[in-house]
Amino acid sequence: MTLKKNVLVTGGAGYIGSHTCIELLNSGYGVVVFDNFSNSYPETIRRIEKITGKSVILFRGDIRDQKSLEYSLERFGCSIVLHFAGLKAVSDSILRPLEYYDINVMGTLTLLRAMQAKGVEALVFSSSATVYGEPCTLPLTEDHSLTAINPYGRTKLIIEDMLRDFQASSPLMRIAILRYFNPVGAHESGLIGENPLGVPNNLMPIVAQVAVGLREVVNIWGSDYPTPDGTGIRDYIHVVDLAQGHLRALEVLERSEGLTVNLGTGVGYSVLEVIKAFSVASGRAIPYVLAPRRPGDVAVCFADPSRATTLLKWKAQRDLAAMCADTWRFQQANPKGLS
Ligand code: NAD
Ligand code: UD1
Repeated sequence: MTLKKNVLVTGGAGYIGSHTCIELLNSGYGVVVFDNFSNSYPETIRRIEKITGKSVILFRGDIRDQKSLEYSLERFGCSIVLHFAGLKAVSDSILRPLEYYDINVMGTLTLLRAMQAKGVEALVFSSSATVYGEPCTLPLTEDHSLTAINPYGRTKLIIEDMLRDFQASSPLMRIAILRYFNPVGAHESGLIGENPLGVPNNLMPIVAQVAVGLREVVNIWGSDYPTPDGTGIRDYIHVVDLAQGHLRALEVLERSEGLTVNLGTGVGYSVLEVIKAFSVASGRAIPYVLAPRRPGDVAVCFADPSRATTLLKWKAQRDLAAMCADTWRFQQANPKGLS
């Protein structure tokens, strides 16, 4: 296979970035990971290389450091940037909002300046379904109104607005805004997966930790929602499907000025359905207790993925059973995560 372009992947050692690096390398792109390892480990890079049999160029740096970004773009001849780096925990963003504005917003601004300085004109940005706030209509289409209900969401919304303004002012700039729903699962090798450094907040890593015996019980945050079983419904998407969506977005960006798309499956599952599916995949009982609602949670959230189907010719392939089986494989092989 001939080598395609070199891609700078900020946050490439993280959960979604690492799975996307595998897809990039398998498709012939050269990969330059730019990461400060604040929420990941260099071991992940070694595992990406093991899975793909290809080398990754690694630059340890902070996205708020324009000189390092410019150096990496130029030194390694990158003509595209996939931008995953940032902070992502909602509860944490309420406790330390300035860190979120600094790393997410200032970091992205710095990246755009570096790209501008080096004439790099293609960017794929990790946005989130959180920009829709409380859904007014379901499924969520890309033209649903945008709002933010916490500092993390506000940083994503500010960045999206900044990207739209930047794109409008720079005719050659091509930007893909990808709005992820709920990424879960792991690479089928069991070598890489979600590896949270602290205590996880999201459902799937908590369920996996209960299954492997690291914690006793899953608290189900709310059992009185207006849903069939009373628990919250989300659009869980396998991280490998999500990663493949980035590859399709890159290809489409080559011949379009920009795009904004949902990356979700269009199917929602309740918390109880996820716990049951994980119990089947792992062969373990997963104890849970019904607890009060978590502030800020919505009852139901799922995507209308039809724009991605039409524009990217992409559709998520992996079902809930595969999401649970792959998460379980990674959790069992790495009970305490990577270090
Ligand atoms: P992650 O924490 O696993 O990965 C982020 C990576 O960025 C880590 O490797 C971390 O070390 C690096 N990083 C953080 N700050 C940095 C900085 N200042 N300079 C350089 N590197 C830095 O997160 P993830 O789940 O892979 O998420 C990737 C992106 O997708 C984030 O922007 C996140 O907001 C977005 N997103 C994630 C989810 C999700 O559920 N995981 C959902 C929607 C959107
Ligand atoms: C959360 C964030 C969202 C972010 C997304 C992906 C909040 C309010 N929202 O979304 O901004 O984009 O993660 O990182 O934090 N649940 C339990 N018990 C648990 C954990 C979760 O019952 O211990 C339930 C939740 O109430 C929800 C579902 O599981 O109904 C999924 O939760 P989670 O994985 O945290 O994702 P979101 O809340 O959708």
